[in-house]
Amino acid sequence: MKIFDEIEKYINDASKKIGVDENFSVTFSNMPKLCDVQCNGCFAAAKKYGKNPFQLATEIVENIDQNEDFIFEVAKPAFINVKITDAKFSKIANEFVNDEMGGVEKHKDKKFVILDYGGANIAKALHIGHLRAPIIGESLKRLYRLLGDKVLGDVHLGDWGLQMGLTELQLYYDGVLDYYFKKKGKEPTITLDMLNVAYPKASARKNVDEDFKKQADEWTIHIQQKVEPYYTIYKKIKEVSVSQIKKHYHELGVDFDLWYGESDADPYVDKALKIIEEKGLAYISDGALVVDVANEDENIPIKKENDEDVQRYKNPMPPAILKKYNGGVLYVTTDIATILMRNTELGVADRIEYVVDGRQAMHFKQVFRVCKKSGISPEKQELIHIGFGTINGKDGKPFKTRDGETIKLEDIINMLINKASEKLIANGTEVTRDTALKIGVAALKFGDLSNTVEKDYIFDLERFMAFEGKTGPYLQYTVVRINSILNKVEENFGEFVVNDEEEREIIRAILRLNSVYDICYRDKSLVSLCNSAYVLASSFSTFYNNHKVISEPDLKKKESYLTLLKLVRNKLMQALNVIGIDVPEKM
Ligand code: ARG
Repeated sequence: MKIFDEIEKYINDASKKIGVDENFSVTFSNMPKLCDVQCNGCFAAAKKYGKNPFQLATEIVENIDQNEDFIFEVAKPAFINVKITDAKFSKIANEFVNDEMGGVEKHKDKKFVILDYGGANIAKALHIGHLRAPIIGESLKRLYRLLGDKVLGDVHLGDWGLQMGLTELQLYYDGVLDYYFKKKGKEPTITLDMLNVAYPKASARKNVDEDFKKQADEWTIHIQQKVEPYYTIYKKIKEVSVSQIKKHYHELGVDFDLWYGESDADPYVDKALKIIEEKGLAYISDGALVVDVANEDENIPIKKENDEDVQRYKNPMPPAILKKYNGGVLYVTTDIATILMRNTELGVADRIEYVVDGRQAMHFKQVFRVCKKSGISPEKQELIHIGFGTINGKDGKPFKTRDGETIKLEDIINMLINKASEKLIANGTEVTRDTALKIGVAALKFGDLSNTVEKDYIFDLERFMAFEGKTGPYLQYTVVRINSILNKVEENFGEFVVNDEEEREIIRAILRLNSVYDICYRDKSLVSLCNSAYVLASSFSTFYNNHKVISEPDLKKKESYLTLLKLVRNKLMQALNVIGIDVPEKM
Protein backbone atom coordinates (compact mmCIF):
# COMPACT_ATOMS: atom_id res chain seq x y z
CA MET A 1 0.00 0.00 0.00
CA LYS A 2 1.18 3.45 -0.89
CA ILE A 3 0.76 4.85 2.59
CA PHE A 4 2.83 2.00 4.04
CA ASP A 5 5.52 2.66 1.43
CA GLU A 6 5.63 6.31 2.45
CA ILE A 7 5.96 5.48 6.13
CA GLU A 8 8.55 2.80 5.48
CA LYS A 9 10.60 5.25 3.46
CA TYR A 10 10.78 7.65 6.40
CA ILE A 11 11.86 4.86 8.73
CA ASN A 12 14.36 3.31 6.31
CA ASP A 13 15.92 6.66 5.40
CA ALA A 14 16.35 7.48 9.09
CA SER A 15 17.85 4.10 9.91
CA LYS A 16 20.33 4.41 7.06
CA LYS A 17 21.50 7.69 8.59
CA ILE A 18 22.50 5.82 11.72
CA GLY A 19 24.20 3.06 9.80
CA VAL A 20 21.40 0.48 9.95
CA ASP A 21 20.63 -0.67 6.43
CA GLU A 22 17.40 -2.58 6.86
CA ASN A 23 14.12 -2.84 4.99
CA PHE A 24 11.69 -2.13 7.80
CA SER A 25 8.06 -2.85 7.11
CA VAL A 26 4.95 -1.60 8.85
CA THR A 27 1.47 -2.93 9.54
CA PHE A 28 -1.80 -1.54 10.78
CA SER A 29 -1.68 -1.01 14.51
CA ASN A 30 -2.88 -3.69 16.90
CA MET A 31 -3.80 -0.90 19.28
CA PRO A 32 -5.79 1.61 17.28
CA LYS A 33 -6.22 3.77 20.38
CA LEU A 34 -2.46 4.42 20.48
CA CYS A 35 -1.56 4.78 16.83
CA ASP A 36 -2.62 3.97 13.27
CA VAL A 37 0.39 2.09 12.00
CA GLN A 38 3.26 0.33 13.73
CA CYS A 39 6.71 -0.98 12.98
CA ASN A 40 7.89 -4.02 14.92
CA GLY A 41 11.22 -4.49 13.17
CA CYS A 42 13.52 -2.95 15.77
CA PHE A 43 13.77 -6.14 17.82
CA ALA A 44 15.23 -8.22 15.00
CA ALA A 45 17.39 -5.40 13.64
CA ALA A 46 18.82 -4.59 17.08
CA LYS A 47 19.91 -8.20 17.49
CA LYS A 48 21.61 -8.18 14.13
CA TYR A 49 23.45 -4.91 14.81
CA GLY A 50 24.21 -5.66 18.47
CA LYS A 51 22.16 -2.73 19.72
CA ASN A 52 19.61 -2.22 22.43
CA PRO A 53 16.16 -2.43 20.72
CA PHE A 54 14.60 0.53 22.52
CA GLN A 55 17.75 2.59 21.87
CA LEU A 56 17.60 1.69 18.16
CA ALA A 57 13.93 2.65 17.86
CA THR A 58 14.65 5.95 19.61
CA GLU A 59 17.59 6.76 17.36
CA ILE A 60 15.56 6.01 14.25
CA VAL A 61 12.68 8.20 15.36
CA GLU A 62 15.06 11.04 16.25
CA ASN A 63 16.46 10.92 12.72
CA ILE A 64 13.17 10.93 10.84
CA ASP A 65 12.72 13.98 8.62
CA GLN A 66 10.21 16.55 9.76
CA ASN A 67 6.95 16.18 7.84
CA GLU A 68 3.31 17.04 8.11
CA ASP A 69 1.88 13.61 7.31
CA PHE A 70 2.94 11.34 10.14
CA ILE A 71 3.92 11.52 13.79
CA PHE A 72 6.49 8.91 14.82
CA GLU A 73 6.83 7.83 18.44
CA VAL A 74 8.77 5.19 20.28
CA ALA A 75 6.81 2.85 22.51
CA LYS A 76 8.21 0.33 24.96
CA PRO A 77 9.64 -2.21 24.56
CA ALA A 78 10.78 -1.17 21.04
CA PHE A 79 7.94 -0.30 18.73
CA ILE A 80 7.79 2.64 16.40
CA ASN A 81 4.23 3.92 16.56
CA VAL A 82 2.94 6.04 13.73
CA LYS A 83 0.00 8.39 13.84
CA ILE A 84 -1.52 9.75 10.68
CA THR A 85 -1.97 13.52 10.97
CA ASP A 86 -5.21 15.29 10.16
CA ALA A 87 -3.50 16.93 7.21
CA LYS A 88 -2.72 13.49 5.84
CA PHE A 89 -6.19 12.08 6.57
CA SER A 90 -7.63 14.93 4.52
CA LYS A 91 -5.13 14.45 1.72
CA ILE A 92 -5.89 10.72 1.53
CA ALA A 93 -9.63 11.30 1.25
CA ASN A 94 -9.26 13.99 -1.41
CA GLU A 95 -6.90 11.83 -3.39
CA PHE A 96 -9.02 8.66 -3.20
CA VAL A 97 -12.24 10.40 -4.14
CA ASN A 98 -10.65 11.52 -7.39
CA ASP A 99 -8.97 8.23 -8.15
CA GLU A 100 -10.84 5.74 -10.31
CA MET A 101 -9.57 2.87 -8.14
CA GLY A 102 -10.19 4.76 -4.91
CA GLY A 103 -6.63 4.12 -3.80
CA VAL A 104 -6.59 0.38 -4.53
CA GLU A 105 -3.46 -0.50 -6.48
CA LYS A 106 -3.39 -2.84 -9.43
CA HIS A 107 -0.75 -5.55 -9.47
CA LYS A 108 2.35 -4.91 -11.54
CA ASP A 109 2.65 -8.58 -12.37
CA LYS A 110 -0.55 -9.28 -14.27
CA LYS A 111 -1.65 -12.87 -14.64
CA PHE A 112 -3.80 -14.71 -17.13
CA VAL A 113 -6.33 -16.79 -15.24
CA ILE A 114 -9.05 -19.18 -16.37
CA LEU A 115 -11.77 -19.64 -13.79
CA ASP A 116 -13.98 -22.69 -14.10
CA TYR A 117 -16.93 -22.00 -11.83
CA GLY A 118 -20.24 -23.00 -13.32
CA GLY A 119 -20.63 -26.72 -13.58
CA ALA A 120 -24.35 -26.79 -14.36
CA ASN A 121 -25.46 -30.03 -15.96
CA ILE A 122 -27.58 -30.15 -19.08
CA ALA A 123 -31.02 -31.72 -18.68
CA LYS A 124 -30.88 -31.61 -14.90
CA ALA A 125 -32.45 -28.74 -12.98
CA LEU A 126 -29.96 -26.54 -11.13
CA HIS A 127 -30.18 -27.06 -7.40
CA ILE A 128 -28.68 -25.81 -4.15
CA GLY A 129 -25.48 -27.74 -4.83
CA HIS A 130 -24.88 -25.43 -7.79
CA LEU A 131 -25.10 -22.21 -5.79
CA ARG A 132 -21.70 -21.76 -4.24
CA ALA A 133 -19.58 -22.22 -7.37
CA PRO A 134 -21.05 -19.25 -9.24
CA ILE A 135 -21.18 -17.06 -6.14
CA ILE A 136 -17.56 -17.65 -5.18
CA GLY A 137 -16.25 -17.85 -8.74
CA GLU A 138 -17.92 -14.69 -9.92
CA SER A 139 -16.48 -12.69 -7.00
CA LEU A 140 -12.97 -14.09 -7.53
CA LYS A 141 -13.20 -13.19 -11.20
CA ARG A 142 -14.17 -9.63 -10.33
CA LEU A 143 -11.45 -9.39 -7.69
CA TYR A 144 -8.71 -10.62 -10.01
CA ARG A 145 -9.88 -8.26 -12.72
CA LEU A 146 -9.94 -5.30 -10.36
CA LEU A 147 -6.32 -6.00 -9.51
CA GLY A 148 -5.34 -6.16 -13.16
CA ASP A 149 -5.41 -9.83 -14.15
CA LYS A 150 -6.84 -11.02 -17.42
CA VAL A 151 -9.56 -13.48 -16.44
CA LEU A 152 -11.77 -15.74 -18.50
CA GLY A 153 -14.73 -17.33 -16.74
CA ASP A 154 -15.79 -20.66 -18.21
CA VAL A 155 -19.11 -22.27 -17.26
CA HIS A 156 -17.88 -25.76 -18.17
CA LEU A 157 -21.30 -27.28 -18.59
CA GLY A 158 -21.76 -30.93 -17.76
CA ASP A 159 -23.08 -31.82 -21.21
CA TRP A 160 -21.33 -35.08 -22.08
CA GLY A 161 -22.29 -37.60 -19.44
CA LEU A 162 -24.72 -40.37 -18.69
CA GLN A 163 -27.52 -37.92 -17.89
CA MET A 164 -27.75 -37.27 -21.64
CA GLY A 165 -28.40 -40.89 -22.51
CA LEU A 166 -30.75 -41.28 -19.56
CA THR A 167 -32.85 -38.26 -20.46
CA GLU A 168 -33.03 -39.10 -24.12
CA LEU A 169 -33.96 -42.70 -23.44
CA GLN A 170 -36.71 -41.64 -21.06
CA LEU A 171 -38.10 -39.21 -23.64
CA TYR A 172 -38.08 -42.11 -26.07
CA TYR A 173 -40.11 -44.30 -23.69
CA ASP A 174 -42.44 -41.38 -23.04
CA GLY A 175 -43.21 -41.35 -26.78
CA VAL A 176 -41.77 -37.90 -27.34
CA LEU A 177 -39.22 -39.10 -29.89
CA ASP A 178 -41.51 -41.16 -32.16
CA TYR A 179 -40.86 -38.77 -35.03
CA TYR A 180 -37.18 -39.72 -35.02
CA PHE A 181 -37.37 -43.39 -34.23
CA LYS A 182 -40.74 -44.49 -35.65
CA LYS A 183 -41.15 -41.88 -38.37
CA LYS A 184 -44.47 -40.98 -36.77
CA GLY A 185 -46.05 -37.53 -36.40
CA LYS A 186 -44.14 -34.27 -36.71
CA GLU A 187 -40.91 -33.11 -35.22
CA PRO A 188 -41.47 -32.57 -31.49
CA THR A 189 -40.60 -29.43 -29.55
CA ILE A 190 -38.68 -30.56 -26.52
CA THR A 191 -39.63 -28.40 -23.56
CA LEU A 192 -38.13 -27.71 -20.20
CA ASP A 193 -41.10 -29.32 -18.53
CA MET A 194 -40.42 -32.54 -20.43
CA LEU A 195 -36.82 -32.51 -19.26
CA ASN A 196 -37.79 -31.76 -15.68
CA VAL A 197 -39.91 -34.91 -15.70
CA ALA A 198 -37.66 -37.13 -17.82
CA TYR A 199 -34.36 -36.85 -16.01
CA PRO A 200 -35.54 -37.57 -12.45
CA LYS A 201 -37.64 -40.45 -13.74
CA ALA A 202 -34.73 -41.96 -15.66
CA SER A 203 -32.31 -41.37 -12.84
CA ALA A 204 -34.51 -43.28 -10.42
CA ARG A 205 -35.11 -46.08 -12.93
CA LYS A 206 -31.45 -46.69 -13.65
CA ASN A 207 -30.93 -47.66 -10.00
CA VAL A 208 -33.47 -50.45 -10.15
CA ASP A 209 -33.47 -51.48 -13.80
CA GLU A 210 -30.15 -52.90 -14.97
CA ASP A 211 -31.23 -53.19 -18.65
CA PHE A 212 -32.39 -49.60 -18.72
CA LYS A 213 -29.05 -48.48 -17.31
CA LYS A 214 -27.17 -50.50 -19.95
CA GLN A 215 -29.30 -49.05 -22.70
CA ALA A 216 -28.73 -45.53 -21.38
CA ASP A 217 -24.99 -46.23 -21.44
CA GLU A 218 -25.28 -47.21 -25.10
CA TRP A 219 -27.31 -44.14 -25.94
CA THR A 220 -24.74 -41.97 -24.21
CA ILE A 221 -22.04 -43.48 -26.39
CA HIS A 222 -24.15 -42.91 -29.51
CA ILE A 223 -24.43 -39.26 -28.54
CA GLN A 224 -20.73 -38.99 -27.81
CA GLN A 225 -19.95 -40.55 -31.18
CA LYS A 226 -22.40 -38.15 -32.85
CA VAL A 227 -24.61 -40.94 -34.24
CA GLU A 228 -27.95 -39.73 -35.63
CA PRO A 229 -30.67 -39.11 -34.58
CA TYR A 230 -29.24 -39.32 -31.05
CA TYR A 231 -26.94 -36.38 -31.60
CA THR A 232 -29.58 -34.09 -33.12
CA ILE A 233 -31.93 -34.79 -30.23
CA TYR A 234 -29.10 -34.16 -27.82
CA LYS A 235 -28.47 -30.75 -29.36
CA LYS A 236 -32.13 -29.86 -28.93
CA ILE A 237 -32.11 -30.91 -25.30
CA LYS A 238 -29.00 -28.88 -24.76
CA GLU A 239 -30.47 -25.76 -26.30
CA VAL A 240 -33.55 -25.78 -24.08
CA SER A 241 -31.50 -26.53 -21.04
CA VAL A 242 -28.83 -23.91 -21.63
CA SER A 243 -31.35 -21.11 -22.06
CA GLN A 244 -32.77 -21.98 -18.65
CA ILE A 245 -29.31 -22.20 -17.10
CA LYS A 246 -28.40 -18.79 -18.52
CA LYS A 247 -31.54 -17.29 -17.07
CA HIS A 248 -30.77 -18.60 -13.59
CA TYR A 249 -27.14 -17.49 -13.59
CA HIS A 250 -28.24 -14.11 -14.85
CA GLU A 251 -30.67 -13.72 -11.96
CA LEU A 252 -27.81 -14.42 -9.58
CA GLY A 253 -25.75 -11.70 -11.26
CA VAL A 254 -23.33 -14.26 -12.63
CA ASP A 255 -21.92 -14.28 -16.12
CA PHE A 256 -19.40 -16.27 -18.10
CA ASP A 257 -17.09 -15.35 -20.94
CA LEU A 258 -17.01 -18.88 -22.26
CA TRP A 259 -20.02 -21.14 -22.55
CA TYR A 260 -18.04 -24.26 -23.26
CA GLY A 261 -19.07 -27.65 -22.05
CA GLU A 262 -17.45 -31.02 -21.61
CA SER A 263 -18.59 -31.80 -25.16
CA ASP A 264 -16.35 -29.08 -26.58
CA ALA A 265 -13.33 -30.90 -25.22
CA ASP A 266 -14.32 -34.05 -27.09
CA PRO A 267 -12.08 -33.35 -30.11
CA TYR A 268 -9.18 -33.18 -27.65
CA VAL A 269 -9.87 -36.48 -25.93
CA ASP A 270 -7.96 -38.58 -28.48
CA LYS A 271 -5.14 -36.05 -28.65
CA ALA A 272 -4.83 -36.07 -24.87
CA LEU A 273 -4.90 -39.86 -24.73
CA LYS A 274 -2.20 -40.01 -27.39
CA ILE A 275 0.07 -37.70 -25.39
CA ILE A 276 -0.52 -39.74 -22.25
CA GLU A 277 0.08 -43.05 -24.00
CA GLU A 278 3.21 -41.79 -25.72
CA LYS A 279 4.62 -40.92 -22.32
CA GLY A 280 3.99 -44.54 -21.35
CA LEU A 281 1.70 -43.54 -18.52
CA ALA A 282 -1.43 -45.49 -19.45
CA TYR A 283 -2.15 -49.21 -19.21
CA ILE A 284 -5.15 -51.51 -19.47
CA SER A 285 -6.67 -52.79 -16.25
CA ASP A 286 -9.88 -54.87 -16.26
CA GLY A 287 -10.47 -53.67 -19.81
CA ALA A 288 -10.25 -50.01 -18.82
CA LEU A 289 -7.49 -47.56 -19.72
CA VAL A 290 -5.92 -46.19 -16.52
CA VAL A 291 -3.03 -44.06 -15.27
CA ASP A 292 -1.40 -44.47 -11.86
CA VAL A 293 -1.26 -41.16 -10.06
CA ALA A 294 -0.48 -42.11 -6.45
CA ASN A 295 2.48 -40.55 -4.65
CA GLU A 296 4.78 -42.58 -2.43
CA ASP A 297 2.88 -41.74 0.74
CA GLU A 298 -0.43 -42.85 -0.75
CA ASN A 299 -2.11 -46.24 -1.21
CA ILE A 300 -0.33 -47.72 1.80
CA PRO A 301 -1.98 -51.14 2.38
CA ILE A 302 -3.61 -51.53 5.78
CA LYS A 303 -3.05 -54.96 7.33
CA LYS A 304 -6.15 -57.15 6.99
CA GLU A 305 -7.73 -58.62 10.12
CA ASN A 306 -9.09 -61.55 8.14
CA ASP A 307 -8.18 -63.09 4.83
CA GLU A 308 -11.69 -62.44 3.52
CA ASP A 309 -11.52 -58.71 4.32
CA VAL A 310 -11.24 -56.36 1.38
CA GLN A 311 -7.85 -54.72 1.11
CA ARG A 312 -7.98 -51.18 2.52
CA TYR A 313 -5.43 -48.42 2.04
CA LYS A 314 -4.14 -45.46 4.01
CA ASN A 315 -4.28 -42.26 1.88
CA PRO A 316 -6.09 -44.02 -0.93
CA MET A 317 -5.43 -42.69 -4.40
CA PRO A 318 -6.91 -44.99 -7.02
CA PRO A 319 -5.65 -44.87 -10.61
CA ALA A 320 -7.36 -42.36 -12.90
CA ILE A 321 -9.68 -44.17 -15.31
CA LEU A 322 -9.53 -42.54 -18.73
CA LYS A 323 -11.61 -44.98 -20.77
CA LYS A 324 -14.19 -47.52 -19.70
CA TYR A 325 -14.23 -51.12 -20.96
CA ASN A 326 -16.86 -50.07 -23.55
CA GLY A 327 -14.85 -47.14 -24.87
CA GLY A 328 -16.86 -44.50 -23.00
CA VAL A 329 -14.88 -41.58 -21.62
CA LEU A 330 -15.22 -40.33 -18.08
CA TYR A 331 -15.36 -37.11 -16.12
CA VAL A 332 -11.60 -37.28 -15.52
CA THR A 333 -10.95 -37.68 -19.24
CA THR A 334 -13.02 -34.68 -20.27
CA ASP A 335 -11.38 -32.51 -17.63
CA ILE A 336 -7.93 -33.52 -18.89
CA ALA A 337 -8.98 -32.90 -22.49
CA THR A 338 -10.39 -29.53 -21.45
CA ILE A 339 -7.01 -28.46 -20.07
CA LEU A 340 -5.40 -29.47 -23.36
CA MET A 341 -8.07 -27.54 -25.26
CA ARG A 342 -7.61 -24.43 -23.10
CA ASN A 343 -3.85 -24.50 -23.40
CA THR A 344 -4.09 -25.00 -27.16
CA GLU A 345 -6.87 -22.58 -28.02
CA LEU A 346 -6.75 -19.90 -25.35
CA GLY A 347 -3.04 -19.80 -24.63
CA VAL A 348 -1.32 -21.18 -21.56
CA ALA A 349 -2.92 -19.47 -18.57
CA ASP A 350 -0.76 -18.78 -15.53
CA ARG A 351 -3.45 -20.36 -13.41
CA ILE A 352 -6.53 -22.47 -14.04
CA GLU A 353 -8.76 -22.39 -10.98
CA TYR A 354 -11.73 -24.66 -10.37
CA VAL A 355 -14.40 -23.53 -7.96
CA VAL A 356 -16.02 -26.89 -7.34
CA ASP A 357 -17.45 -28.77 -4.36
CA GLY A 358 -14.71 -29.87 -1.95
CA ARG A 359 -15.94 -33.44 -2.22
CA GLN A 360 -14.42 -33.55 -5.71
CA ALA A 361 -10.91 -33.10 -4.29
CA MET A 362 -9.82 -36.59 -5.35
CA HIS A 363 -11.08 -36.05 -8.89
CA PHE A 364 -9.05 -32.87 -9.29
CA LYS A 365 -5.93 -34.43 -7.80
CA GLN A 366 -6.19 -37.15 -10.43
CA VAL A 367 -6.80 -34.71 -13.28
CA PHE A 368 -3.97 -32.38 -12.23
CA ARG A 369 -1.48 -35.19 -11.73
CA VAL A 370 -2.18 -36.75 -15.13
CA CYS A 371 -1.80 -33.32 -16.76
CA LYS A 372 1.48 -32.60 -15.00
CA LYS A 373 2.96 -36.08 -15.59
CA SER A 374 2.08 -35.97 -19.28
CA GLY A 375 3.10 -32.36 -19.80
CA ILE A 376 -0.41 -31.43 -20.99
CA SER A 377 -0.10 -28.72 -18.37
CA PRO A 378 3.37 -27.16 -18.38
CA GLU A 379 5.21 -27.05 -15.08
CA LYS A 380 4.83 -23.32 -14.62
CA GLN A 381 1.05 -23.45 -14.90
CA GLU A 382 -0.79 -23.57 -11.60
CA LEU A 383 -3.82 -25.86 -11.44
CA ILE A 384 -5.89 -25.10 -8.38
CA HIS A 385 -9.04 -26.64 -6.96
CA ILE A 386 -10.90 -24.21 -4.72
CA GLY A 387 -13.11 -26.73 -2.94
CA PHE A 388 -16.08 -25.34 -1.10
CA GLY A 389 -18.19 -26.74 1.73
CA THR A 390 -21.87 -27.60 1.76
CA ILE A 391 -24.84 -25.33 2.39
CA ASN A 392 -26.58 -26.76 5.44
CA GLY A 393 -29.95 -26.19 7.03
CA LYS A 394 -30.36 -25.05 10.64
CA ASP A 395 -30.11 -28.69 11.74
CA GLY A 396 -26.54 -28.75 10.44
CA LYS A 397 -27.42 -31.24 7.70
CA PRO A 398 -27.45 -30.49 3.95
CA PHE A 399 -30.30 -28.09 3.26
CA LYS A 400 -33.28 -30.03 1.89
CA THR A 401 -37.00 -29.49 1.35
CA ARG A 402 -39.42 -30.74 4.02
CA ASP A 403 -39.82 -34.05 2.20
CA GLY A 404 -36.09 -34.53 2.04
CA GLU A 405 -35.69 -33.49 -1.60
CA THR A 406 -32.82 -31.43 -2.92
CA ILE A 407 -33.89 -27.79 -3.23
CA LYS A 408 -34.01 -26.46 -6.76
CA LEU A 409 -32.29 -23.21 -7.58
CA GLU A 410 -35.55 -21.83 -8.84
CA ASP A 411 -37.12 -22.40 -5.43
CA ILE A 412 -34.22 -20.69 -3.71
CA ILE A 413 -34.55 -17.66 -5.95
CA ASN A 414 -38.26 -17.50 -5.13
CA MET A 415 -37.52 -17.82 -1.44
CA LEU A 416 -35.08 -14.92 -1.65
CA ILE A 417 -37.57 -12.77 -3.52
CA ASN A 418 -40.38 -13.52 -1.07
CA LYS A 419 -38.31 -12.81 2.00
CA ALA A 420 -36.92 -9.58 0.56
CA SER A 421 -40.44 -8.50 -0.42
CA GLU A 422 -41.60 -8.99 3.19
CA LYS A 423 -38.77 -6.74 4.35
CA LEU A 424 -39.59 -4.08 1.78
CA ILE A 425 -43.24 -4.09 2.79
CA ALA A 426 -42.25 -3.74 6.44
CA ASN A 427 -40.10 -0.75 5.46
CA GLY A 428 -42.92 0.82 3.49
CA THR A 429 -40.93 0.64 0.25
CA GLU A 430 -42.50 -0.17 -3.07
CA VAL A 431 -41.92 -3.83 -3.98
CA THR A 432 -40.75 -4.75 -7.44
CA ARG A 433 -39.36 -8.11 -8.47
CA ASP A 434 -36.13 -6.47 -9.53
CA THR A 435 -35.56 -4.75 -6.18
CA ALA A 436 -36.51 -7.84 -4.20
CA LEU A 437 -34.21 -9.98 -6.32
CA LYS A 438 -31.28 -7.61 -5.85
CA ILE A 439 -31.77 -7.63 -2.09
CA GLY A 440 -32.29 -11.37 -1.95
CA VAL A 441 -29.18 -12.06 -3.99
CA ALA A 442 -27.19 -9.64 -1.81
CA ALA A 443 -28.33 -11.51 1.30
CA LEU A 444 -27.36 -14.85 -0.20
CA LYS A 445 -24.00 -13.80 -1.61
CA PHE A 446 -22.84 -11.90 1.44
CA GLY A 447 -24.08 -14.75 3.66
CA ASP A 448 -22.04 -17.16 1.59
CA LEU A 449 -18.87 -15.15 1.00
CA SER A 450 -18.48 -14.04 4.60
CA ASN A 451 -17.85 -17.70 5.45
CA THR A 452 -14.62 -19.59 4.94
CA VAL A 453 -14.82 -21.18 1.51
CA GLU A 454 -13.89 -24.73 2.45
CA LYS A 455 -16.25 -24.95 5.44
CA ASP A 456 -19.95 -25.81 5.41
CA TYR A 457 -22.27 -23.00 6.41
CA ILE A 458 -25.83 -22.68 7.59
CA PHE A 459 -28.35 -21.12 5.26
CA ASP A 460 -30.11 -18.76 7.64
CA LEU A 461 -32.24 -16.56 5.45
CA GLU A 462 -33.65 -14.55 8.35
CA ARG A 463 -30.17 -13.56 9.49
CA PHE A 464 -28.76 -13.02 5.97
CA MET A 465 -31.65 -10.76 5.08
CA ALA A 466 -31.48 -8.40 8.10
CA PHE A 467 -31.21 -4.73 7.17
CA GLU A 468 -29.02 -4.14 10.25
CA GLY A 469 -25.78 -5.93 11.10
CA LYS A 470 -23.19 -7.72 9.00
CA THR A 471 -25.29 -8.52 5.96
CA GLY A 472 -25.48 -7.76 2.26
CA PRO A 473 -28.73 -5.81 2.58
CA TYR A 474 -27.18 -3.59 5.28
CA LEU A 475 -24.37 -2.62 2.92
CA GLN A 476 -26.87 -1.98 0.14
CA TYR A 477 -28.97 0.06 2.52
CA THR A 478 -25.99 2.22 3.48
CA VAL A 479 -25.33 3.01 -0.17
CA VAL A 480 -29.02 3.68 -0.86
CA ARG A 481 -29.04 6.09 2.09
CA ILE A 482 -25.97 7.96 0.85
CA ASN A 483 -27.38 8.10 -2.68
CA SER A 484 -30.61 9.58 -1.42
CA ILE A 485 -28.68 12.34 0.39
CA LEU A 486 -26.47 13.04 -2.60
CA ASN A 487 -29.53 13.17 -4.84
CA LYS A 488 -31.07 15.83 -2.65
CA VAL A 489 -28.17 18.27 -2.85
CA GLU A 490 -26.53 20.00 -5.70
CA GLU A 491 -23.36 18.17 -6.46
CA ASN A 492 -21.05 20.60 -4.76
CA PHE A 493 -18.21 18.53 -3.53
CA GLY A 494 -15.72 20.70 -1.72
CA GLU A 495 -12.32 19.86 -0.39
CA PHE A 496 -12.55 17.38 2.43
CA VAL A 497 -11.05 18.61 5.67
CA VAL A 498 -11.04 16.16 8.52
CA ASN A 499 -12.71 17.55 11.62
CA ASP A 500 -13.35 14.89 14.17
CA GLU A 501 -12.68 11.37 15.32
CA GLU A 502 -15.68 9.88 13.54
CA GLU A 503 -14.35 11.12 10.24
CA ARG A 504 -10.90 9.77 11.03
CA GLU A 505 -12.49 6.39 11.75
CA ILE A 506 -14.03 6.40 8.30
CA ILE A 507 -10.70 7.08 6.59
CA ARG A 508 -9.03 4.41 8.71
CA ALA A 509 -11.74 1.95 7.66
CA ILE A 510 -11.12 2.88 4.03
CA LEU A 511 -7.39 2.31 4.37
CA ARG A 512 -8.02 -1.10 5.89
CA LEU A 513 -10.58 -1.92 3.24
CA ASN A 514 -8.07 -1.03 0.52
CA SER A 515 -5.49 -3.28 2.13
CA VAL A 516 -7.69 -6.39 2.17
CA TYR A 517 -7.98 -6.76 -1.60
CA ASP A 518 -4.51 -8.27 -1.66
CA ILE A 519 -5.32 -10.51 1.26
CA CYS A 520 -8.42 -11.80 -0.53
CA TYR A 521 -6.36 -12.35 -3.66
CA ARG A 522 -3.81 -14.38 -1.73
CA ASP A 523 -6.41 -16.37 0.24
CA LYS A 524 -8.85 -16.82 -2.65
CA SER A 525 -11.57 -15.86 -0.24
CA LEU A 526 -13.75 -12.79 0.15
CA VAL A 527 -14.12 -13.07 3.92
CA SER A 528 -11.92 -10.11 4.81
CA LEU A 529 -13.50 -7.92 2.15
CA CYS A 530 -16.96 -8.66 3.57
CA ASN A 531 -15.73 -7.82 7.06
CA SER A 532 -13.94 -4.61 6.09
CA ALA A 533 -16.80 -3.35 3.96
CA TYR A 534 -19.06 -3.86 6.95
CA VAL A 535 -16.70 -1.94 9.24
CA LEU A 536 -16.71 0.96 6.80
CA ALA A 537 -20.51 0.94 6.56
CA SER A 538 -20.90 0.93 10.32
CA SER A 539 -18.31 3.68 10.86
CA PHE A 540 -20.28 5.68 8.34
CA SER A 541 -23.52 5.04 10.23
CA THR A 542 -21.94 6.30 13.45
CA PHE A 543 -20.81 9.45 11.68
CA TYR A 544 -24.16 9.95 10.02
CA ASN A 545 -26.12 9.57 13.25
CA ASN A 546 -24.09 12.36 14.81
CA HIS A 547 -23.77 14.82 11.94
CA LYS A 548 -26.35 16.83 10.10
CA VAL A 549 -25.17 16.86 6.54
CA ILE A 550 -27.91 18.47 4.50
CA SER A 551 -28.78 21.12 7.07
CA GLU A 552 -25.18 22.00 7.95
CA PRO A 553 -25.08 25.83 7.83
CA ASP A 554 -21.32 26.17 7.31
CA LEU A 555 -21.02 25.75 3.54
CA LYS A 556 -17.38 24.68 3.57
CA LYS A 557 -18.14 22.04 6.15
CA LYS A 558 -21.16 20.81 4.24
CA GLU A 559 -19.17 20.47 1.05
CA SER A 560 -16.47 18.61 2.92
CA TYR A 561 -19.11 16.21 4.29
CA LEU A 562 -20.48 15.64 0.81
CA THR A 563 -17.04 14.70 -0.45
CA LEU A 564 -16.70 12.24 2.39
CA LEU A 565 -20.09 10.75 1.56
CA LYS A 566 -19.16 10.36 -2.06
CA LEU A 567 -15.93 8.64 -1.09
CA VAL A 568 -17.70 6.21 1.25
CA ARG A 569 -20.27 5.47 -1.44
CA ASN A 570 -17.55 4.81 -4.03
CA LYS A 571 -15.61 2.54 -1.71
CA LEU A 572 -18.70 0.56 -0.71
CA MET A 573 -19.80 0.26 -4.33
CA GLN A 574 -16.36 -1.00 -5.30
CA ALA A 575 -16.48 -3.67 -2.59
CA LEU A 576 -20.08 -4.63 -3.41
CA ASN A 577 -19.20 -4.89 -7.04
CA VAL A 578 -16.46 -7.38 -6.28
CA ILE A 579 -18.76 -9.35 -3.99
CA GLY A 580 -21.22 -9.36 -6.89
CA ILE A 581 -23.97 -7.30 -5.29
CA ASP A 582 -26.05 -4.72 -7.16
CA VAL A 583 -27.59 -1.80 -5.32
CA PRO A 584 -31.29 -1.04 -5.83
CA GLU A 585 -32.57 2.51 -6.10
CA LYS A 586 -34.75 2.26 -3.02
CA MET A 587 -35.11 -0.18 -0.19
N1 ARG B 1 -20.76 -30.68 -13.69
C1 ARG B 1 -19.98 -31.01 -12.53
C2 ARG B 1 -20.89 -31.43 -11.39
O1 ARG B 1 -22.08 -31.14 -11.39
C3 ARG B 1 -19.14 -29.86 -12.05
C4 ARG B 1 -18.11 -29.38 -13.04
C5 ARG B 1 -17.00 -28.65 -12.39
N2 ARG B 1 -15.94 -28.27 -13.30
C6 ARG B 1 -15.04 -29.11 -13.78
N3 ARG B 1 -14.16 -28.66 -14.65
N4 ARG B 1 -14.99 -30.36 -13.45
O2 ARG B 1 -20.40 -32.06 -10.46
